[in-house]
Amino acid sequence: MKTNFLKILFYLLVAVTFSYGLDLNPDDLDSLKQATALVADGLMDYYNGLDYGETIGMFSDPYYWWEAGGAWGSMVDYWYFMENDTYANITKQALLFQVGDNWDYVPSNQSTTEGNDDQGFWGLAVMSAAEKNFTNPSDDEPGWLYLAQAVFNTIAYRWDTDNCGGGLRWQIFQWNSGYDYKNSVSNGCLFQIGARLARYTGNSTYIEWCEMVWDWMVSVDFITTDDWWFVYDGATIDNNCQNISKLQWTYNQGLFLGGAAFLYNVTGEEKWLNRTQNLLDGSAVFFNNSVMYEAACQGIGTCNNDQRSFKAYFSRFLGYTALMVPSTYNQVYELLRVSALGAASSCSGGTDGHTCGINWFYGGWDGFWGLGEQMSALEVMQNLRINDLPAPYTASSGGSSEGDPAAGTEDLGSEANKALSIDTADIVGASIITAVVGLSLIAGSIWLII
Ligand SMILES: *[C@@H]1O[C@H](CO)[C@@H](O)[C@H](O)[C@H]1NC(C)=O
Ligand SMILES: *[C@@H]1O[C@H](CO)[C@@H](O)[C@H](O)[C@H]1NC(C)=O
Ligand SMILES: *[C@@H]1O[C@H](CO)[C@@H](O)[C@H](O)[C@H]1NC(C)=O
Ligand SMILES: *[C@@H]1O[C@H](CO)[C@@H](O)[C@H](O)[C@H]1NC(C)=O
Ligand SMILES: *[C@@H]1O[C@H](CO)[C@@H](O)[C@H](O)[C@H]1NC(C)=O
Ligand SMILES: *[C@@H]1O[C@H](CO)[C@@H](O)[C@H](O)[C@H]1NC(C)=O
Ligand SMILES: *[C@@H]1O[C@H](CO)[C@@H](O)[C@H](O)[C@H]1NC(C)=O
Ligand SMILES: *[C@@H]1O[C@H](CO)[C@@H](O)[C@H](O)[C@H]1NC(C)=O
Ligand SMILES: *[C@@H]1O[C@H](CO)[C@@H](O)[C@H](O)[C@H]1NC(C)=O
Repeated sequence: MKTNFLKILFYLLVAVTFSYGLDLNPDDLDSLKQATALVADGLMDYYNGLDYGETIGMFSDPYYWWEAGGAWGSMVDYWYFMENDTYANITKQALLFQVGDNWDYVPSNQSTTEGNDDQGFWGLAVMSAAEKNFTNPSDDEPGWLYLAQAVFNTIAYRWDTDNCGGGLRWQIFQWNSGYDYKNSVSNGCLFQIGARLARYTGNSTYIEWCEMVWDWMVSVDFITTDDWWFVYDGATIDNNCQNISKLQWTYNQGLFLGGAAFLYNVTGEEKWLNRTQNLLDGSAVFFNNSVMYEAACQGIGTCNNDQRSFKAYFSRFLGYTALMVPSTYNQVYELLRVSALGAASSCSGGTDGHTCGINWFYGGWDGFWGLGEQMSALEVMQNLRINDLPAPYTASSGGSSEGDPAAGTEDLGSEANKALSIDTADIVGASIITAVVGLSLIAGSIWLII
């Protein structure tokens, strides 16, 4: 009798924990603030950079450096959208600690793993800081705009016309595996940071770069422009980039979608409106009844730590799209609203009772947890505030960040010098990491075949 009662109590508790999640009313600011505060706290639980022996700016093992850049970008957004400075100082300190000797987010500690995309995600974070007028660094530190320009300039310097008629390789350094692979995420980072720098600074050189990146992406069919506008993962440089890995990730679609939206906003050109709308329509592959999901890996349960954060960036870039191209607002807002409700319902796990899961149409917590899950839920919820606050600032409309169009270019040869100082033991470690990523890519591609 007693055991039966305990059993029933247990199942009741499980049912309550698993089916409700955060109480979110998208139309009520207090509700949004309360829900996102819990999710943001959960995100920051993975940050141990202030502990003894840990490194400022880095999240706890096993999260890579690039994802930290993504997470700090989400925390800049949290500060802005929720008008909450609880984590602002920690965020600023982290963003500045990882700039590297050349102030371009190529810190020497990361040279065994850092690719163009990794650098790009820190660049996207500081670009947001500039656009949101986040507290400026002091005079002896680089400004947010300076850092974004340094990331742009150093990535642009690596543009490679010797293979596949242009484009960026995935990797910066020859010793990292993936150096022979050209991919959409690296090129997408250059494209979107360029588009946002164009709007922020008014300098049309960035637009020319974006035109070149776009044309190249379409020329090698990494972006399809026939029936559905999709962004594929990439291809190795042998065969002239013809053997394309057709995996589709939310963040790749989002990088080009958001970038095109910024370019429409700054140029007013019909073609960028058209490209924005077509990429938005192509994003349908990532929604199930308007609930966002990482289609290539979520259903089969193979999303790795990196991939579990992609919906965070996609949500963020959807927000930009709605702002920069107002004719998309209703379509985007509905996707964000329905997805945010799903995300909130997933945030009912763990010992704290509000750990977020990966599957937003599960109707409760699905047992997954991690930095990526927290970031994704946070971004999709906080982007419901896009219309309540000023759109991203520019240098002439409220932004106050210090920049320099030549940032990062003083010491461009230094990458070659780093090659000489690298420890070969570390290189072996790095290629194992990449091999694991490679395996999950193969697992993910099963979804495509199905
Ligand atoms: C600000 O954020 C912190 C951390 O998420 C949270 O505890 C606090 O309640 C928030 N304040 C308001 C006014 O929402
Ligand atoms: C952030 O740092 C500034 C300057 O050190 C300090 O004045 C402010 O109180 C801090 N804010 C918070 C929320 O801790
Ligand atoms: C680089 O690694 C060393 C040793 O772990 C650490 O002390 C230092 O803070 C790290 N620097 C950065 C920028 O990560
Ligand atoms: C194309 O790439 C796949 C891996 O994505 C590989 O298995 C296959 O051998 C490649 N085909 C050619 C012709 O290079
Ligand atoms: C928009 O894109 C479609 C599909 O590629 C194309 O057929 C159409 O001509 C474009 N319209 C404009 C105004 O550029
Ligand atoms: C879409 O969501 C429903 C639940 O709302 C689920 O049953 C279905 O399997 C999902 N479809 C995919 C492709 O995941
Ligand atoms: C650019 O974005 C601003 C801010 O959202 C908006 O008011 C303006 O209408 C946009 N410009 C164009 C050409 O759509
Ligand atoms: C941006 O920050 C600067 C420096 O704190 C401030 O003077 C300016 O008013 C801010 N701009 C807006 C639009 O809030
Ligand atoms: C515009 O940007 C380019 C590329 O970064 C730079 O070379 C040029 O000096 C900039 N022009 C102005 C007027 O700032």
